[in-house]
Amino acid sequence: MQDILRRLEEKRAQAREGGGTRRIEAQHAKGKLTARERLDLLFDAGSFEEWDMFVEHRSTDFGMDKQRVPGDGVVTGFGTVNGRLVFAFSQDFTVFGGSLSEAHAEKICKIMDKAMQVGAPVVGLNDSGGARIQEGVASLAGYAEVFQRNVIASGVVPQVSLIMGPCAGGAVYSPAMTDFIFMVKDSSYMFVTGPDVVKTVTHETVTHEELGGAVTHSTRSGVSDLAFENDVEALLQLRRFLDFIPSSNRAKPPIKPTADPADRTEDSLDTLVPANPNKPYDIRELILKIVDEGDFFELQSGYAGNIVIGFGRMAGQTVGIVANQPMVLAGCLDINSARKGARFVRFCDAFNIPIVTIVDVPGFLPGTAQEYGGIIKHGAKLLFAYAEATVPKVTVITRKAYGGAYDVMSSKHLRGDVNYAWPTAEIAVMGPKGAVEIIFRGDIGDPAKIEARTEEYREKFANPFVAGHRGFIDDVIMPHSTRRRICRALAMLRDKKIEDPWRKHRNIPL
Ligand code: HXC
Repeated sequence: MQDILRRLEEKRAQAREGGGTRRIEAQHAKGKLTARERLDLLFDAGSFEEWDMFVEHRSTDFGMDKQRVPGDGVVTGFGTVNGRLVFAFSQDFTVFGGSLSEAHAEKICKIMDKAMQVGAPVVGLNDSGGARIQEGVASLAGYAEVFQRNVIASGVVPQVSLIMGPCAGGAVYSPAMTDFIFMVKDSSYMFVTGPDVVKTVTHETVTHEELGGAVTHSTRSGVSDLAFENDVEALLQLRRFLDFIPSSNRAKPPIKPTADPADRTEDSLDTLVPANPNKPYDIRELILKIVDEGDFFELQSGYAGNIVIGFGRMAGQTVGIVANQPMVLAGCLDINSARKGARFVRFCDAFNIPIVTIVDVPGFLPGTAQEYGGIIKHGAKLLFAYAEATVPKVTVITRKAYGGAYDVMSSKHLRGDVNYAWPTAEIAVMGPKGAVEIIFRGDIGDPAKIEARTEEYREKFANPFVAGHRGFIDDVIMPHSTRRRICRALAMLRDKKIEDPWRKHRNIPL
């Protein structure tokens, strides 16, 4: 018995040692934590239960039979994050470069399967040289098994990827199919083909960082939701993030008790919208002033800034917030912002998170770049996402809600549950100046006439009451009471239920 216990301890120690001191030091020298250090930071102290510590690869080619490390380059298991159950895998770059073997993939699949059965999020800490080269197709099969599970788990349990090292080739597609991707600056990258292949094929010279670093993906491509400075910041922010999201599609959004009164008024909002309709203001100010304790977890803050998305809480309950940002492109919708908003709306809808939409949108961005880029299809994604969403939807129009963009942004006609407007709202087919220049084209040579017509149009249409007369707006509210009104609406909507006709799945424009 003593002998067995000693052997067990030896095996455990060997697994914990991963690729050995030299490789651990190399990992630290790159500013990266080890797989286990990362899990220690992610989970509540002492809560992590490791599985499959003794799993080894089964390959014998290229001398692999003499190189076996218990655990095979990935640490898997479950634990709690702020008391809530979470499953995770953490790839160990010190063991065969964290590369994915058949056995390594089986370990990941095992926790994914269990997470789906019990209804808990899956977090992947990715740090891997890709497919285990010595294994060939067995490793590719392992990847595909993970991909398949990513798809089966989609909309069932939240999946979050943290990229903390290399992630290249087909390996990028597992994170790509998860709900959120976070990256670490200077130590992580993602690309389908690396700089050497790019140079050969397109003759472009580009560094790893430029091609697929955290800044590239969180500002240019939009592949990554956020970029963090280092491993520690990334893991602590991931803990904060997990607090906002439900455990599964069977769960209600988590409630975090707050001392912030649901009926808190905010007088400064009464002067947020400038008198000049062409002057921008920061929509984040409004968001921070209405959510509980000013706690807003913004996603994709560096990408498509004309729309702001993220999680906050209202009266303790998580809400997804989507807001046009007048500071960027005057808040117009374009290809990138429509895609960004649509995916977020769909996540919220899949996981029962109410959506609060704040509207100040002058329309869709004009131009050949947009039309040739397919704004018709991309814009339709946001429209489609809002129209299909059955979660509680509360909309507040602060200023402009023009044209098709008015319809798109969670309007009453797309099953918006509660639609409010501030007194400063202008709900119309287009802005007064543009409208007059079209309908009174003959008067264009007469500035005084045009001015008078514009004023007349503004008087008639650039206000919330035309929509209010038809019931498209449920009420015109004072800006200072926005938080109170949204909280009441959400409380009323808590048990909302909508049944749609049966179908296999919708065919969202892609
Ligand atoms: C087996 C690997 C490995 C891999 C790295 N290692 N990648 N072992 N399979 N894919 C091992 C190295 O041999 C080395 O072992 C250790 O990990 C660390 O690697 P280094 O090269 O010393 O580290 P570094 O200089 O930091 O470079 C990291 C790297 C590089 C950029 C990831 O290792 C690399 O280019 N690896 C190959 C990447 C690759 O082509 N993968 C296959 C892609 S195809 P020792 O014993 O010396 O410590 C793919 C397809 C997926 O992934 C398909 C899904 C459908």
